[in-house]
Amino acid sequence: MVKIQWYPGHMEKARREMTERLKAVDLVIELRDARIPEASRNPLLHMMAKDKPRLILLTKTDMADPAATEEWVRYLKSRENTSCLAVDLMRDSRCGRKIIREALLLMQEKREKQKARGIRPRAVRAMAAGIPNVGKSTMINRIAGKNTLKAADKPGVTRSLTWLHADPDLDLLDTPGVLWPKFDDEKTGSLLAAVGSINDDILDRKMLAMDTIRMIQDLYPQLLEGIYEAEEGVNPNGMLKAIAARRHLLKEKGEPDTKRAADLFLTELRHGKLGRLTLERPDEENSEDEGAEDLHE
Ligand code: G4P
Repeated sequence: MVKIQWYPGHMEKARREMTERLKAVDLVIELRDARIPEASRNPLLHMMAKDKPRLILLTKTDMADPAATEEWVRYLKSRENTSCLAVDLMRDSRCGRKIIREALLLMQEKREKQKARGIRPRAVRAMAAGIPNVGKSTMINRIAGKNTLKAADKPGVTRSLTWLHADPDLDLLDTPGVLWPKFDDEKTGSLLAAVGSINDDILDRKMLAMDTIRMIQDLYPQLLEGIYEAEEGVNPNGMLKAIAARRHLLKEKGEPDTKRAADLFLTELRHGKLGRLTLERPDEENSEDEGAEDLHE
């Protein structure tokens, strides 16, 4: 598998700012891509916010396998102090309300106690975090709409992390998309790249396409063969040749242009043109609660 790493300086800067800001945060809204719910889990976030209640949002469910999404929601909800919602941010106009309600539910006990002591609970403060391209801006628009009031800029407060008064009961801290310095394994990097959360310019897209074809063939046998009219059991390079032939991507001498076929395949995958696919299944053996022991090279 191709080895991918992408952790530019601006992400490390954002990570430091997020750690600092977490002190003022009641809960974390962690966005993950429903097509890769494990690979899109940021272990740094878990390490930074391990004691905070967590609402996991599985985004882009319209492109994920519905049965796998159900399985993931059940699995993630079984974690302590964690709630999970699967959301279609593009089509479900009510998902903003659902997210707010779920966030408040996570804090309900604490708020009830405050009320019992005669204290009027202040708005819940939630940090929204996730990998690049996971749908964070779309979610914030869904929650806060156009009436969002940005917290006034204060000197010394960075602009990259901004408090939004999303609702009378919920303040939302927006953060930039961040990854982490060292992926657990090569598969994690490939999955993140496959869905488009890693800058394409640093990638060998043909290698990435072949890795992804292999993963899809394992989970959805015959699917790609059917779509691209390829021979049964063809290897990933053969699949690229079949894609090139079907889509008339040929070099000057009529040979299949597998590089262009790789680009086309990745574009189709990322836009959900290959059907609703989830590229990972929950691993009951592997604890979600683990921290990030070995993230640096
Ligand atoms: P970010 O802030 O986390 O970086 O993500 P953002 O909201 O900008 O969303 C990234 C892309 O994903 C956008 O497409 C957006 O429309 C799309 N998107 C967000 N949520 C969903 C969802 O639930 N379902 C689907 N199908 N798409 C979603 P884009 O601007 O066209 O970017 P790109 O996909 O061409 O990179």
